[in-house]
Parts: sequence; structure tokens; C-alpha cells
Amino acid sequence: MAEIVILDSPNAAGELVAGAITDLLAARPDAVLGLATGSTPLPVYSALERRVRERDLDLSAVRGFALDEYVGLPEGHPESYRAVITRDVVEPLGLSPANVHVPRGSLEGIATAGDDYERAILAAGGIDLQLLGIGTVGHVGFNEPGSSLASLTRVKTLTAQTRRDNARFFASADDVPMHCITQGLGTILRARHVVLLAFGSGKAPAVAAAVEGPVSASHPGSVIQLHPHATVVLDEEAASELREVDYYRYVWENKPAWQRI
Ligand code: F6R
Repeated sequence: MAEIVILDSPNAAGELVAGAITDLLAARPDAVLGLATGSTPLPVYSALERRVRERDLDLSAVRGFALDEYVGLPEGHPESYRAVITRDVVEPLGLSPANVHVPRGSLEGIATAGDDYERAILAAGGIDLQLLGIGTVGHVGFNEPGSSLASLTRVKTLTAQTRRDNARFFASADDVPMHCITQGLGTILRARHVVLLAFGSGKAPAVAAAVEGPVSASHPGSVIQLHPHATVVLDEEAASELREVDYYRYVWENKPAWQRI
């Protein structure tokens, strides 16, 4: 079972996960991080940025692989995930741009971009820690409901709901690209540690389906139940539809001091 951690706030969640990443990097300065975009991981990136500043950490050896990218946005579009990762992660954390990979979303070469990305992840030795958010439709990465649990990086069609959810970053839902290229659920399962974060009541049904529902392509987030080392970090609102919430708190409160997430 995934470890379920329920904290008071997104900031507390950001601190916890940044701590886990800091520990990983202390052991392996060139560790490979799987990077999510969207609103959810921002508290993690902010907490990491503070640690970089205050402790003078050098993250220039860290390698990163973004989860996904829109297909067909013009090069340099401010909402392309390449631009978002540069703005939210590479620059503030002082990562080396050459070490940070984002799936290629340009139409030219799109047919082979997924296989190329998989090869690049393998060549890097695989992903040590994969950050994940979850969509209201239950997607992780952009693996929309119906995605194969064994899927690898490939082009997908975004649901109308995901396009509405992401309209806040664009002029309108119609401006959100129809297609994306995303790490598959099988790619995510290959990461050595997956950390799924979710905040707010809007995510509560998707979190409950992912953590306590049947493992099903209809609920892509449920793939975490197949992972040997999955951590789910929630605020109270996102945890509000979990049945076994008392048990998760009890486990967390009684966690052996030596055990990390
Ligand atoms: C982002 C990604 C998506 C988001 C999800 C939640 O790279 O792959 O799965 O994590 O859509 O988005 P936010 O965090 O904006 O609510």
C-alpha cells in the first residue's frame, strides 16, 4: 500500500517532500528527478529553493525529466511545459539546463519523440524520485482515463475536462492544446520512488479513487497501488473522501523514527 501522509497545509507537504529530495541528493548529487508541472508541486519547488539558498546546496548535477508537454505549441510559448519547467524549476533551483529534459512537443518528429524520451530516461539510469500531481479526472502525467497501465511515453488526447481545468493558464479552454505527449503509466511505475501530492477538496474524489478504488485504467492514478514505494502527501481537504483516514494518521503518528518517506 502507498504511504498516505496527511498534513495541515501545502507548505508543510512541500517541506516534507523537499526534505526527502534533499536526503536523496545528499547521497547522490546527480540523482534523477521526475518533474511535474501545474500548481501542485509548487510548494515543493519553493521549499527546495529555500534550502538551496539557505544551505548553499549546489544542484547543478541533478538530472530531471518532466512528465509531459503539450503538442504543437509554438517554440518558446510561455505555457509550454519546457518554459514552465525552466521558470519554476531550472532557474530558481540552479539546475543545469542541459540536464533537464522535457518531451518534445513540436509536430516535427512527434512520431518518434516518445521512444526517444524513453531511451533518454533509460540512458540516465532511470528516475529516482518522480513527483506527481493528480487531475480532477484522475490522470497522472497526462494519462487520461482509459490509459494503459503499461503505457510508455506517447501522444495522448486531452479530455475536455482537463482542457477546462488548464484553461486558467491560457486565454480560454479552446486555446489549451488538444494533444500532449506524456510519460506513460508504465514509465511512472519504473521510477524508484513515486510521490503523489494533492491539495484541496476538488482533488478529494480523484485521490480516493487512486488510493482506495480498484486498480483500473479508468482511474489512472490508481496505478500507484502497483508501485512498491509510493508516497501520497495530502492536505486535509484532499484527504476528506478517504475511508481509512484514521488508520493512515495512526500509521504516520507511529512511524519508526529511522524510517523515511
Ligand atoms: C503536470 C501533470 C498533471 C498535473 C495535474 C494536476 O505535469 O502531469 O498530471 O499534475 O493535472 O494539475 P494541478 O497541479 O495544476 O492541479
